[in-house]
Amino acid sequence: MERKSKIPFFNSSIEEDVKLPVPKEEKLVVFPDRKETKVDYEAHLKSVIEQQRLRKEADASQEVAHVEIKTNLDYALVVGSGDWHIGSENTDYKLFDSHMKAIKDTEGVYAVMVGDEKDNFVLPKFRSGLFEGVLNPQQQADMVKGILGGLEEKDKILARVSGNHDEWTWTESGVELSNFWHNEMKSPLLRNGGFVHLKLNEVDYTLYLHHGKSLFNSNFNPNHASKRAFEFQGPYDAMFSGHTHVAEAAHSWRWADEFKKDYVQVRTGTYKTKDPYARAKQLGEGQPPGACILMSTEDKRMMPFLKLEDGIEALKAINTVNSLIAQGLLGEPEIEGKK
Ligand SMILES: [Fe+2]
Ligand SMILES: [Fe+2]
Repeated sequence: MERKSKIPFFNSSIEEDVKLPVPKEEKLVVFPDRKETKVDYEAHLKSVIEQQRLRKEADASQEVAHVEIKTNLDYALVVGSGDWHIGSENTDYKLFDSHMKAIKDTEGVYAVMVGDEKDNFVLPKFRSGLFEGVLNPQQQADMVKGILGGLEEKDKILARVSGNHDEWTWTESGVELSNFWHNEMKSPLLRNGGFVHLKLNEVDYTLYLHHGKSLFNSNFNPNHASKRAFEFQGPYDAMFSGHTHVAEAAHSWRWADEFKKDYVQVRTGTYKTKDPYARAKQLGEGQPPGACILMSTEDKRMMPFLKLEDGIEALKAINTVNSLIAQGLLGEPEIEGKK
């Protein structure tokens, strides 16, 4: 005879559900109007894409630029100018003033700006830089804007890139000063560097501009990063950079046979020549700026100079001689190898 247990479990097979009594839930706290969320991912994506478009449209910077110069001169001089460090007590303002006047007043001289025009030590960890300031950041920005504007009035600036000192305003506040004054400027801004295709009359030069804060900088070879840029960025004719406050104008050959070409690297130096930071790091002093390239407007021909004064003298001399030859007042010299 089957004996039934009084305990229900023992009367069930193991597969059977055992229905245990459920205690009755009593809701003591209720939220009758609690908000439910809804995440519309598609709407978010659409909005982000539109926000990106608007932001790009409002940004002053571009990645590549074309510049055309029409001139009746046989040669033009392009100077790499930057690392002005306006605002610092260690900047050579007299040298700066004389260079800016020379660029403005000499026919055929143009500048590419390589950044760090402002000292702009707004980064808290570098606040000692502000202690060395003779102008506050607002005054520095006003002054730089005025000087750039003065050069642009005479069509002297071909293109600009930003330096790390300029970008500190963005990293500390999220505000790009260059966006504010962009529409008053004529020249293109390539904030993080890029190619500038310069057409001098009918001659095309490919310039690569970069501030020069590079992973490939070498303390022993001022143009090492520029030469690496030729491989990693593209085969330029001339590169202008700054940042390291050393100056060098290098001219050499690259490749062979039908690919053989000459190329030039210019590292611009600085007007912040008496920099105690550099001295403390055994770097001596900032090297004087003004490295430049004489460029033919008739065929692709480049002649670099370390000093702006030498470049200007050569520019005037070569254009004068060519003008005398053109007028039949001077015989053309026979130089083998001259194009
Ligand atoms: Fe600098
Ligand atoms: Fe820099």
